Amino acid sequence: MNEQDLYAAIGEDGFTRLIAAFYRRIPQDDILGPMYEHHDLTGAEQRLRDFLLFRFGGVPRYLEERGHPRLRMRHARFPIGQAARDRWIELMDAALAETGLPAEAHQTLRSFFDSTATFLMNRAGD
Ligand code: HEM
Repeated sequence: MNEQDLYAAIGEDGFTRLIAAFYRRIPQDDILGPMYEHHDLTGAEQRLRDFLLFRFGGVPRYLEERGHPRLRMRHARFPIGQAARDRWIELMDAALAETGLPAEAHQTLRSFFDSTATFLMNRAGD
């Protein structure tokens, strides 16, 4: 499925359920939990969800509220090595499995997350 068809396939509801399932896993995670510890998790959930809605052609609320994503800059203060990157993907995989999106949408999202997470790495090693 190409990226343009993704939003039509899962809608705002699909993104909302996926990101809620992802953030439910964050607080108890030994690597990611501490990174998000001082953040407002409800707000963080909303920011990631809104970013994805905007990125895949839904409402542009993210852009209105946060401006241009500049994701690498916004992740610069978090140490993202291989272990953090892989764990983020692992939790997202579990969230994808739980949410039960159509298989093709699942694939498209999975490869988008995979490459974006790699792009956000900012240190070698763990
Ligand atoms: C690679 C591992 C990653 C780690 C460790 C990580 C960690 C974090 C943390 C700790 C925050 C702050 C939470 C908040 O208050 O908003 C954040 C924000 C955010 N992350 Fe990540 N992240 C990762 C990957 C990703 C990926 C793959 C995406 C996109 C698909 C993403 C998109 C975002 C967005 C949109 C925000 C909010 C930015 C803002 O508007 O301030 N992150 N991330």
